[in-house]
Amino acid sequence: MIKLPQIIGHRGACAYAPENTLASIQSAADMGIEWVELDVKLTADDVPIIFHDDNLIRITDHDALVKDVPYSAIKELDAGSWFADSFVDEKIPTLEEAVELIIELGLGLNLEIKPCAGREVETAQIALDYLARIWDDHDKIIISSFNEVSLETAADMLAGDWALAYLIDDIPEKWKDIAQHLNVQTININGNRDDLEREFIEEIIDEGYGVLAYTINNPVRARELISWGVDGVFTDEPDVIRDELFGLH
Ligand code: G3P
Ligand code: MG
Repeated sequence: MIKLPQIIGHRGACAYAPENTLASIQSAADMGIEWVELDVKLTADDVPIIFHDDNLIRITDHDALVKDVPYSAIKELDAGSWFADSFVDEKIPTLEEAVELIIELGLGLNLEIKPCAGREVETAQIALDYLARIWDDHDKIIISSFNEVSLETAADMLAGDWALAYLIDDIPEKWKDIAQHLNVQTININGNRDDLEREFIEEIIDEGYGVLAYTINNPVRARELISWGVDGVFTDEPDVIRDELFGLH
């Protein structure tokens, strides 16, 4: 089991810079955060890019599915001005650009495989093929997904070399069988659900898995989850949560 991070900047540090951009990664590093989470999906021509939504519209004002647009068009889009004028013309990074910056900054990476519908296998394959060529620190990488097909593809490719995380929202009835089959190291849970009980976290730990919780921006909730045994939290405001949990300034 790798040493799990306690604080993971969500989509970089997305309260401070447009999510899933190089500026957001840089922002997390600038505040001394050691791990970031990013979402990866494929363009129409199979370029892995860092982007959360299936549709480009929320971030770029361009109404189209990522899986239908080639990278040559995606790289022209402005992914920053929706967030603030100071980020005008910030680009949607490729996985390659993001990982190069992360390595340069010495950060850990939780890469979430976030396929558009129908691209579940290819997204995992292409992203991990690329990553495996340039990433060599097994202690600073976690691959996660909500999608069981993507996870299964990742599990086959990684063969236990890197930590794999099973992302869940509501609790799947067969979560233990699935986690065991996929050989995951952690279960990444929605830490904001009203029906999340301490007993479930204890059950995960008893089964031998780590637990990470998303997306926790309330310091009181972060403290509660950590007291219940959660190893770490994804947060949009990593400096606030870190300072609240550890009193660092
Ligand atoms: O990986 C944790 C979190 O990012 C999962 O939810 O929708 O923000 O990708 P989402
Ligand atoms: Mg994510």
